Amino acid sequence: MASREQHSQQQNQTRKVPLFPLLSLVCFVSIFLVLSSIRNTSVPPRPHNASFEFQKTDGSDPSRRGGSCDYSDGKWIHDPDSPPRYDNTCKEIFKGWNCISSGKSNGRELLKWRWKPKGCDLPPFDPVRFLKMYRHTSIGFVGDSLNRNMFVSLFCSLKRVSSEVKKWRPAGADRGFTFLQYNLTLAYHRTNLLAHYGRWSADANGGELESLGYKEGYRVDVDIPDGTWAEALSFHDILIFNTGHWWWAPSKFDPTKSPMLFFEKGQPVVPPVLPNVGLDMVLNHMVMLVENRTKPGAVKLFRTQSPRHFEGGDWDQGGSCNRLKPLSVEQVEELFSVKNNGTNVEARLVNQHLYKALKGSSFQILDITHMSEFRADAHPSTAGGKKHDDCMHWCLPGLTDTWNDLFIEQLNIIRSRN
Ligand SMILES: *[C@@H]1O[C@H](CO)[C@@H](O)[C@H](O)[C@H]1NC(C)=O
Ligand SMILES: *[C@@H]1O[C@H](CO)[C@@H](O)[C@H](O)[C@H]1NC(C)=O
Ligand SMILES: *[C@@H]1O[C@H](CO)[C@@H](O)[C@H](O)[C@H]1NC(C)=O
Ligand SMILES: *[C@@H]1O[C@H](CO)[C@@H](O)[C@H](O)[C@H]1NC(C)=O
Repeated sequence: MASREQHSQQQNQTRKVPLFPLLSLVCFVSIFLVLSSIRNTSVPPRPHNASFEFQKTDGSDPSRRGGSCDYSDGKWIHDPDSPPRYDNTCKEIFKGWNCISSGKSNGRELLKWRWKPKGCDLPPFDPVRFLKMYRHTSIGFVGDSLNRNMFVSLFCSLKRVSSEVKKWRPAGADRGFTFLQYNLTLAYHRTNLLAHYGRWSADANGGELESLGYKEGYRVDVDIPDGTWAEALSFHDILIFNTGHWWWAPSKFDPTKSPMLFFEKGQPVVPPVLPNVGLDMVLNHMVMLVENRTKPGAVKLFRTQSPRHFEGGDWDQGGSCNRLKPLSVEQVEELFSVKNNGTNVEARLVNQHLYKALKGSSFQILDITHMSEFRADAHPSTAGGKKHDDCMHWCLPGLTDTWNDLFIEQLNIIRSRN
């Protein structure tokens, strides 16, 4: 027993990846585009499906009841009186995201904007009500550091009203907490590509990839989930996934020096495919795997891509995000339109892959892309504590608080239907 405990402790330790290299890697991720993927694609149609929409919340007017509104479409309204739902003392906030503590000039100002969906209102966040409604429930965030950013936001929002928590790592999670009074668990499972991957180098005895001249790279098994979340599927009642930022990351997956090499059923995919094709393969496998392995009645959401806001160059070319206010509709289109092929164009391109893979699945889509595109003011920027500006993650408290509002509203709608 003692040795088993020790063993599992060791396992836990080996799972602890040093924070700094990890986060800087994530942050150093920059995205370039495969030419062909741009040529062949156009702006994705915005989904208008009942399952993505809110019921109208204005119950006072019966004529509007039963209608629905697209919460992902709307605008940011300046609301200087909106109370912050937690503050910079929440210990779970990663230092580089704590814009109030690090003195970002608009660290508090950026909280004074409220998302107003067209045709309906987003109900105000009520942490106690949430804790009560989701008693005996376990919620897993599975994805990259942007999903961690969202996980931290929800944790801090709830911790403020219910401080008795157990910190642990449920089902292989990177971090997790149970709110003891309510038996509500939140966990974050770190995975960059969803699929399992690791370094690959040519075998002296040769092989298919070797014969094509490959020497070094990363092996990505499109049909094997990362070990960090494989157990999460049978554990959590609600799962929220993301992937995207690492798929075009030449700082790690250099297309010539260390390309992604895809494997399926243990065999290399030949001829080798580009990352945009690999992404489709991974998404298709992972969607099926999740459908097969989750608990009956589990709720599965996929979050759309979080936009970056590098202007004047990419992260490694001196790009910055100095804006102090949300962008206008015109500025958003200029920055993100696929047609313009700007620095941050991947935000909408990733979504095209997601929508394709999720079509016909039982996943719900949590569409936060467009509403986030406006918020060039809400990144850590120079306050992120790195050599370059962080225009990818979000300040906390901040934008991901609103992602959680949409998430919770979507959960409530699913719940009220069942
Ligand atoms: C919209 O929802 C219906 C029923 O839930 C589903 O059959 C259909 O495939 C969905 N459409 C899209 C574009 O996802
Ligand atoms: C706590 O919640 C989990 C689901 O997250 C459930 O499996 C378990 O039975 C609950 N424990 C108690 C004591 O109700
Ligand atoms: C999921 O289940 C179906 C039907 O049982 C099976 O054909 C398929 O191979 C499974 N896929 C995965 C990824 O487990
Ligand atoms: C898009 O922009 C990138 C980076 O500026 C450039 O390398 C690429 O050629 C452009 N692609 C197209 C189709 O214009």
